[in-house]
Amino acid sequence: QGTWHEAAALSALSEGEPHGIEIGRHHIALYRVGNEFYATSNICTHAEALLSDGMLDGCEIECPLHMGRFDIRTGEALTSPVEIDIQTYPVRVTGDRLEVCLP
Ligand code: FES
Repeated sequence: QGTWHEAAALSALSEGEPHGIEIGRHHIALYRVGNEFYATSNICTHAEALLSDGMLDGCEIECPLHMGRFDIRTGEALTSPVEIDIQTYPVRVTGDRLEVCLP
Protein backbone atom coordinates (compact mmCIF):
# COMPACT_ATOMS: atom_id res chain seq x y z
CA GLN A 1 0.00 0.00 0.00
CA GLY A 2 1.38 3.40 -0.95
CA THR A 3 0.32 7.00 -1.19
CA TRP A 4 -0.37 8.82 -4.42
CA HIS A 5 1.52 12.07 -4.97
CA GLU A 6 1.34 14.62 -7.74
CA ALA A 7 4.55 14.24 -9.75
CA ALA A 8 4.46 16.48 -12.83
CA ALA A 9 2.31 18.12 -15.45
CA LEU A 10 2.05 15.85 -18.49
CA SER A 11 3.20 18.80 -20.59
CA ALA A 12 6.53 18.73 -18.69
CA LEU A 13 7.21 15.15 -19.79
CA SER A 14 8.69 14.85 -23.25
CA GLU A 15 9.28 11.66 -25.14
CA GLY A 16 12.84 10.49 -24.65
CA GLU A 17 13.69 13.07 -21.97
CA PRO A 18 13.82 11.64 -18.46
CA HIS A 19 12.60 14.10 -15.84
CA GLY A 20 14.02 14.09 -12.31
CA ILE A 21 11.93 15.14 -9.33
CA GLU A 22 12.10 14.91 -5.57
CA ILE A 23 9.13 14.11 -3.35
CA GLY A 24 10.18 14.20 0.27
CA ARG A 25 13.20 11.92 0.56
CA HIS A 26 12.42 10.13 -2.70
CA HIS A 27 14.45 10.92 -5.82
CA ILE A 28 12.36 9.84 -8.77
CA ALA A 29 12.85 9.74 -12.52
CA LEU A 30 9.79 10.06 -14.74
CA TYR A 31 9.70 8.85 -18.32
CA ARG A 32 7.37 9.16 -21.28
CA VAL A 33 7.32 6.53 -24.01
CA GLY A 34 4.60 7.43 -26.50
CA ASN A 35 1.53 7.84 -24.33
CA GLU A 36 2.82 5.58 -21.57
CA PHE A 37 4.46 6.91 -18.41
CA TYR A 38 6.85 5.23 -16.01
CA ALA A 39 8.61 6.11 -12.77
CA THR A 40 11.74 4.66 -11.20
CA SER A 41 14.14 5.65 -8.49
CA ASN A 42 16.42 8.30 -9.93
CA ILE A 43 19.51 6.96 -8.16
CA CYS A 44 21.48 4.36 -10.09
CA THR A 45 22.04 1.22 -8.00
CA HIS A 46 25.67 1.06 -9.12
CA ALA A 47 27.27 4.33 -7.97
CA GLU A 48 24.39 6.72 -7.41
CA ALA A 49 24.44 8.74 -10.63
CA LEU A 50 21.13 10.38 -11.57
CA LEU A 51 19.30 8.40 -14.23
CA SER A 52 17.43 11.54 -15.26
CA ASP A 53 20.77 12.72 -16.71
CA GLY A 54 20.98 9.54 -18.78
CA MET A 55 19.72 8.56 -22.21
CA LEU A 56 16.36 6.90 -22.73
CA ASP A 57 16.36 4.31 -25.52
CA GLY A 58 12.88 2.86 -25.96
CA CYS A 59 12.06 1.47 -22.53
CA GLU A 60 15.69 1.31 -21.44
CA ILE A 61 17.40 4.02 -19.43
CA GLU A 62 21.16 4.21 -19.80
CA CYS A 63 23.02 5.56 -16.78
CA PRO A 64 25.18 8.58 -17.69
CA LEU A 65 28.12 7.48 -15.54
CA HIS A 66 29.05 3.92 -16.59
CA MET A 67 26.37 3.19 -19.20
CA GLY A 68 24.58 0.48 -17.25
CA ARG A 69 20.99 -0.03 -18.38
CA PHE A 70 17.68 -0.70 -16.66
CA ASP A 71 14.27 -1.60 -18.05
CA ILE A 72 12.06 1.27 -16.84
CA ARG A 73 8.95 -0.95 -16.92
CA THR A 74 10.27 -3.58 -14.51
CA GLY A 75 13.39 -2.00 -13.02
CA GLU A 76 15.44 -4.94 -14.21
CA ALA A 77 19.20 -4.37 -14.35
CA LEU A 78 20.06 -5.26 -17.95
CA THR A 79 23.71 -4.56 -18.67
CA SER A 80 27.02 -4.42 -16.83
CA PRO A 81 28.04 -2.83 -14.53
CA VAL A 82 24.57 -2.59 -12.97
CA GLU A 83 23.56 -5.75 -11.12
CA ILE A 84 20.90 -4.59 -8.67
CA ASP A 85 17.46 -3.84 -10.09
CA ILE A 86 16.10 -0.32 -9.66
CA GLN A 87 12.93 0.44 -7.74
CA THR A 88 9.91 1.20 -9.91
CA TYR A 89 6.76 3.02 -8.82
CA PRO A 90 3.17 2.84 -10.11
CA VAL A 91 1.96 5.90 -11.99
CA ARG A 92 -1.45 7.14 -13.10
CA VAL A 93 -2.73 10.06 -15.14
CA THR A 94 -5.26 12.33 -13.43
CA GLY A 95 -6.44 15.08 -15.75
CA ASP A 96 -3.32 16.74 -17.10
CA ARG A 97 -1.09 15.57 -14.24
CA LEU A 98 0.97 12.48 -13.61
CA GLU A 99 0.78 10.96 -10.15
CA VAL A 100 3.18 8.47 -8.62
CA CYS A 101 2.52 6.01 -5.80
CA LEU A 102 5.24 5.94 -3.15
CA PRO A 103 5.65 3.44 -0.33
FE1 FES B 1 25.13 3.98 -13.00
FE2 FES B 1 27.68 3.23 -12.62
S1 FES B 1 26.55 4.79 -11.60
S2 FES B 1 26.27 2.50 -14.11
